[in-house]
Amino acid sequence: SVFGLGYVGLTFGVCLASREFKAIGVDVESGKVEAVNRGEAPFYEPGLSELLRDALERGLFRATTDARGAVLASDVTFICVGTPSLPDGSADLKYVESAARAVGRALREKEGWHLVAIRSTVPPGTCGGHVKKTLEEESGKRAGEGFGLCANPEFTKEGSAVNDTFNPDRIVIGELDERSGSFLESLYREFHGGKPPPIVRTSLVNAELIKYASNAFLAMKVSFINEIANIAQRVPGADVEVIARGIGFDKRIGPLFLRAGLGFGGSCFPKDLRALIGFSESLEHEPKILKAVLEVNERQPYKAIELAKALVGSLEGKKVAVLGLAFKPDTDDIREAVSLKVVRALLSEGARVVVYDPKAMPNARRVLGGSVEYATSAEECLKGADCAIVVTEWDEFKRLKPEDFIRFMRTPAVVDGRRVYDHMEFIGKVRFAAIGLGPLGGS
Ligand code: UDX
Repeated sequence: SVFGLGYVGLTFGVCLASREFKAIGVDVESGKVEAVNRGEAPFYEPGLSELLRDALERGLFRATTDARGAVLASDVTFICVGTPSLPDGSADLKYVESAARAVGRALREKEGWHLVAIRSTVPPGTCGGHVKKTLEEESGKRAGEGFGLCANPEFTKEGSAVNDTFNPDRIVIGELDERSGSFLESLYREFHGGKPPPIVRTSLVNAELIKYASNAFLAMKVSFINEIANIAQRVPGADVEVIARGIGFDKRIGPLFLRAGLGFGGSCFPKDLRALIGFSESLEHEPKILKAVLEVNERQPYKAIELAKALVGSLEGKKVAVLGLAFKPDTDDIREAVSLKVVRALLSEGARVVVYDPKAMPNARRVLGGSVEYATSAEECLKGADCAIVVTEWDEFKRLKPEDFIRFMRTPAVVDGRRVYDHMEFIGKVRFAAIGLGPLGGS
């Protein structure tokens, strides 16, 4: 059984089913459960709907609101519910708590051993502390005897969650006891057809910290390259793309997560950084690097405004086309998306803002309401605009040529916030600026 039919839980449950495990998805929202049972994923994730429909047809996956029935009918429960930020930045554990209560209550009636694995990102100490206590209280059984407990963080990215689930770089199993860890390891060995990625077996608290440390490190890479981009932008002839390539060949650095842009967003990096900072401070340690990673990121979206102003002067009364709203391509998710900060800053500069995203328009409407105009295509978005800003690197924006901007815009001026264009192709044809690209010239 998999609790939580969000990005993590639904993808994981459906992937389990496609590897012949019988999986039951549990969620408290009946609307979501019904949609899933009709074969409709409640969010956009490439490849997921096809796998879901196939799993439903083959009877290997179903969704339900009946937590008790799902626990009783399964050998292991994966808790994959959200852990959003509280106003002070710490993780809100109310969904983990209610899922653990429901699982615990069902375990009271269950004969035989059952494994509970926490896949939600939770602060270090949560699994061995609050979760264990809640399960024990509700079930009347002892962890490590009547049931097993693991912290089993996931590292999937939205937009490639299915592929990441089938091909993870590693599996991390934090275990309360040997039996729990061995059970989960054998499940993953079967899932990966006898060829699993490296498996790290460790304590609950190390597993919890591995998740936070991974996300913090990746976010640090992004803020690092954005810092270098901001320096390069002031140096004639410099280009952060070339610098990233040049440093990425060093095996100690690696080429991934060095794409400079307008900063990171999404449901994980900002939230998990804040939670790790809060956790660290609760231990009376000031996490200077983590704070700097967030600070650089908070400033980064406004680079789009600076560049736009450098191209077209004051934005008062100008029509600005925002291309891309999702926090990254191949998702409709706008949680903590950079686009929202860019749009709000443009509005406060007095600009008229038109937005377009291939997938995120319904979600964006809910947040931006009547403050902006909504276009139904990139072309329509660009029509009559004085400046265009690429905020999310969707493929369809990458395909736009200087001629397209010239054809549709009133004054063709392009801010490449995600380094999707070959600047040599654009400069000279349109007014052009890009993150991390210094003025032409230099030596
Ligand atoms: C992240 C982690 O990658 C994943 O392991 C974890 O389980 C959840 O959090 P996700 O938030 O889905 O995944 O997306 P990711 O691809 O990591 O991108 C996060 C943000 O960083 C996006 O806004 C993206 O645009 C930005 N980013 C990423 C960059 O700006 N540059 C890069 O080089 C990489």
